[in-house]
Order: sequence, then C-alpha cells, then structure tokens
Amino acid sequence: MHKTHPTTLMKRMGKAHMMNIHIFDDIKSLNLAASTHISDLVRQKPDAVLGLATGISSLGIYQALISDHESYQTSYNHVSTYNLDEYIGLAPDHPQSYRFFMNEHFFKHIDVDLQHTHIPNGQANDQQAECRRYNQLLSETMVDIQLLGIGSNGHIGFNEPGTPFTLETHVIALDAKTRRDNARFFRDPAEVPTHAITMGIANIMRARTIVLVAMGPKKAQAVQAMINGLVDEKCPASVLQNHADVHIYLDHHAASLMT
Ligand code: F6R
Repeated sequence: MHKTHPTTLMKRMGKAHMMNIHIFDDIKSLNLAASTHISDLVRQKPDAVLGLATGISSLGIYQALISDHESYQTSYNHVSTYNLDEYIGLAPDHPQSYRFFMNEHFFKHIDVDLQHTHIPNGQANDQQAECRRYNQLLSETMVDIQLLGIGSNGHIGFNEPGTPFTLETHVIALDAKTRRDNARFFRDPAEVPTHAITMGIANIMRARTIVLVAMGPKKAQAVQAMINGLVDEKCPASVLQNHADVHIYLDHHAASLMT
C-alpha cells in the first residue's frame, strides 16, 4: 500500500542548523511536495531566482511545475534561472546536453523568457573564461531556491568526491562512477563527456534554500553519508549539513540506509 503522507524527520546539525527530511512511498506525492517550494515561491515573488538541476530525479519536479503552470497559470515571465552544470563539448542542441534537457523538459512548457535562463556554455573555446563569466553572473544574483539531485557517489552539481568545498564555478573531470551512471543516456559509453563545467559548492551553499530530491536504492549509500556521515569532501553532499535551510525529499528506497 502506498502512503501519500510523508514521514518527516528533522535532523539537528549543531546549534543553528536543521535538515528537514521528508520520506515518501509515493513518487508522485514526493514530486508534488518538493515542487511546491518552487511554485509557492514563484507565486509570492514573480522575479524569483531559481537554481536548477538536470537528471532523472528532477524530471518529476518539472512535470509537477508544468502541471501547476497549466492549471493555475503560475507565471515564470519574470523568473531567472541558473543551472548547476553542463557537459564540456556538447552543443546546446545535442540531446544529452543539459541546455537541451532544460528546454525540452521544462522551459518550452512554461512562459519563461529564454534570455533569463542561464547554463554554462560547454562549447566555449576558453573554458576558464567561461567559468569566470558564469561565476560573475552568479555573484551578481541571489538564488532563492537551489534544486539538487545527488550522485550515487555523493556529488552535488558535478562536484565529485574530493572537490574542495571552497571552490566556485570550475571545470571538473567526471568520476568514472558518474560516467558509468550517465552512460545509459548515450548510445556508446565512450561518448559520455569526460569533463563538465559546474557551479562549485561555495556557489551552491549561498542559495537561500536548498531542495534536494533522491529516489531509488542506488542513492541509499550517498543519502546515508550526506545525512548521517561526517561533513567531509569525500561526500560532497554532506556539506548541506552546514546549510541553514535544507529540505530533503526521499523515497523509502533512497532512505533505506539512513539511521
Ligand atoms: C545534474 C546534476 C547532478 C544530478 C545527479 C543525479 O544537473 O548536477 O548532480 O543531480 O547526478 O542525477 P540523476 O537524477 O539522473 O540520478
């Protein structure tokens, strides 16, 4: 039997911080609850700034936001968005590029102005200059809500294990595990890009609110390390224990190793 009401836990992290953890059996309810952070914000603050993620875990959130936009005309006309990351070497119209993902799965279904949607340029000739450009944009704004998935190795954005928490936007060599996990989207595993441009942990931690979603047993170990482990660069997501407003939405598979 599916529970539609979540189990909600609060984990106190030191004096000031609390992780709000919501565990659902039913994925649809999970997506609806997590997406409400975004739709409520956009209704209250029409020029909200959203930090967005790609990947399977975020798909249901975008579907819920599109339904909400269609049913209640929630408008994204004045919203700005900043995506976490982009593969190096993929053109915006490559079906596996994150620009393509965002256009297909979210932007073309809502009334956002594409000029207000920002994603690192994975085809820039000078990647370091592109990191500086993106970082400059981020430093001029304040992300209201940052949506995150988590990699099975604990990455957030493409900040792979071992990435210093102090880094801002940078080029990263993708972990073998990340390339294996993402190979299912490419015809040939050798086509998976080796590098990406990603917001750094320092950028992510500046968002006012963090909403992280994780589903399925492959995420259970990373989720356990994020919530119950030490704050350590070996599990990049563990840094969220130090964030003042973090909401974690899990299905019971992803939550199965948590204590
Ligand atoms: C994507 C991103 C990644 C994904 C993570 C989970 O923009 O930054 O951190 O959120 O790899 O991916 P899925 O949801 O495909 O399992």
